[in-house]
Amino acid sequence: MALSSAQAPDRAQRGRSGPGRERKGSMKELGRAIRYLGHYRKLTTYAYVAMVISLVAQLMVPQMLQNILDAVSRGMVVQQFNAAPAAAQQVILQQSGMTLEQMEAGASGAQTALYWAIAAILLFAVARGLFSFAQTYMSEASSQGVAFDLRNVLFSKIQRLSFSYHDRNRTGQLMIRATDDVEKVRVFIGQGLLLAVQAVLLLVSALLLLTFTNWRLTLYILPILPIAFVIFLFFGSITQPLFGKVQARLSALNTILQETLQGIKVVQAFAREPQAIARFDRSAGDLMEQQIRVARVFSFLFPVIFMIATLGQDAVLYFGGRQMIAGTLTIGEWQKFSLYLVYVFFPIGQLGFIISQMSQAQASAHRIFEIVDTENEVVNKPGAVPLPPVQGRVEFENVSFSYFGNTDPVLSDISFVAEPGQTVAVLGATGSGKSSFINMIPRFYDVTGGRLLVDTYDVRDVTIESLRRQIGIVLQETNLFTGTLRDNVAFGKPEATDEEIFAAARAAAAHDFIMSFPDGYDTAVGERGSTLSGGQKQRIAIARALLLSPRILILDDSTSSVDVATEATIQKALDKLMEGRTSFVIAQRISTVLNADRILVLDKGRVAAVGTHEELMESSAIYAEIYRSQLVEDAAPQRDDAELQFLPDAPLPRKHNGKAQVSSGTSTEAAGARGANDATKTAGSAETQGGAR
Ligand SMILES: Nc1ncnc2c1ncn2[C@@H]1O[C@H](COP(=O)(O)OP(=O)(O)OP(=O)(O)O)[C@@H](O)[C@H]1O
Ligand SMILES: [Mg+2]
Repeated sequence: MALSSAQAPDRAQRGRSGPGRERKGSMKELGRAIRYLGHYRKLTTYAYVAMVISLVAQLMVPQMLQNILDAVSRGMVVQQFNAAPAAAQQVILQQSGMTLEQMEAGASGAQTALYWAIAAILLFAVARGLFSFAQTYMSEASSQGVAFDLRNVLFSKIQRLSFSYHDRNRTGQLMIRATDDVEKVRVFIGQGLLLAVQAVLLLVSALLLLTFTNWRLTLYILPILPIAFVIFLFFGSITQPLFGKVQARLSALNTILQETLQGIKVVQAFAREPQAIARFDRSAGDLMEQQIRVARVFSFLFPVIFMIATLGQDAVLYFGGRQMIAGTLTIGEWQKFSLYLVYVFFPIGQLGFIISQMSQAQASAHRIFEIVDTENEVVNKPGAVPLPPVQGRVEFENVSFSYFGNTDPVLSDISFVAEPGQTVAVLGATGSGKSSFINMIPRFYDVTGGRLLVDTYDVRDVTIESLRRQIGIVLQETNLFTGTLRDNVAFGKPEATDEEIFAAARAAAAHDFIMSFPDGYDTAVGERGSTLSGGQKQRIAIARALLLSPRILILDDSTSSVDVATEATIQKALDKLMEGRTSFVIAQRISTVLNADRILVLDKGRVAAVGTHEELMESSAIYAEIYRSQLVEDAAPQRDDAELQFLPDAPLPRKHNGKAQVSSGTSTEAAGARGANDATKTAGSAETQGGAR
């Protein structure tokens, strides 16, 4: 069935929201990140309570200062009174309406008030210190928890996103989201948010206290607040997209870094270091430019805020001074007022800083949730059932398929049945759709037309995990993980016993070379298997698939970087292993093809021919051509290992010249394998490949 026009736009719509596009973040997404604090309710509550207590302690200080100043000035009055001549004292007492006793009591009261106020200030300072420690510690801790949760949510989503998503998105970009973007959101939640609440509380309470102290003076500074607010909104709105761009450029830089480091050998082999350095340089320059752009905007913000604050202070100095001259304001009140005034301006400045953090966090939160919300193209459909243990019949029923955004179908109208236990060799020119064909079976991609049945189940009706658990697969590109060789063989079945692991490795002709390493199965594997030869990696990958003892086995090009001798060994083992399993093998070796029960020849995504070798030699011109041009060269070395020693070990002409550059590992290692084989012409000598490299 061809791709219907109704389906095409639908497919095009889905999954569009990849990291490729930068949209503006919004408060909504940041709010969603903040709600993760709900998992750390206690810590968060404590942090905020501690913040309020330390705030109250802070607010008490100016009041104490007023007490001190008033006490001190009262004491000074008494001292002057005492120094005055007796006649003058009488006049003062009459005028002030106080008795001599009262005056003396005032003097000692001033002393006591001074002591108390000093003690209180000390106490408040200690309380403020303790509680602000608690506030910082607990909010940092809860924000670390949020970061932890966000990273996990993000990672598990990325892990599950289908092949098509990863085809479109760069690893480097995804990495920045799981690291740097999460950190930006965390910093805001841990510091910015709390500081924002603190700043607003401080601002409001300081304003109230100012009003109670002297409402007339307070009126002079009120107009400043809306001005500051408008400025914040303005800066917030222009800087937030700037931060989005910073993160995008950081992602781009990271992508280049990751790609070049991963391909460092290709870069050096082609002497492209200067170009790689220039490319990195450009990208780092782009990032720097954007950062400087942001810095320029923020260098405006702070002076503007401070200018406004200074204007307010000026007004208060002027009008407060006039009130003092007029005698309506005491020096203690005036001091208190100035201090509370600082408490108004300080949070305004602080909010400027928080706006910057918030804009960054908004941009980052958007980037995080963009991935979290991406619709996965391959998901368990509602009501999907676990696939029961299968016989292994695989049926393609008019299957069509096209990759995202590519309207040309890669597979068209494929109908094919593999009966349980059959070995199917899939042949075809490069790009004819062999890998795509086998990718349909474990649902790495979903068919765009027709259906695919395993036994009697449409693969889309069963759960993905249960389907994949019954399929062993060796992909075209071998990937090993950091860990030991044992870990890598047991990747799909960590609970496997040593016996099972050894058996799988033996079957994949990997056991002997593993045992030849000093550490055997405990040999550590370098990053992406860099310490192994191409052929060794492939055999580990085959062992990994065999360990699952799957009903359905898929080998994509799995023997291409193995020399002829080793391939024969593997082939024999595989023949035994494939017995009773349905196997799909994509290989360029004649031995594989001759051993297959059926051969499926693909041509430009269509079934060109199906049959056995003998049938196809007669009926299919395409097969005959492939046989002559691709397979015939190693036609001789089939069953007898003894013969192998005298055979030219040239693997088949590699089909994809283009790929030789990309997966340099494979081509150079295949060459290494040849060299090694020349040196030691014995079957199974490929174990020495690693050493020969
Ligand atoms: N992830 C992808 N996204 C888009 N197009 C793809 C993707 N993978 C393969 N294609 C295209 O689909 C077509 C079939 O590719 P496929 O990998 O199935 O070929 P193949 O027969 O396995 O080739 P080879 O023998 O080189 O491995 C090619 O034209 C290729 O460009
Ligand atoms: Mg392929």
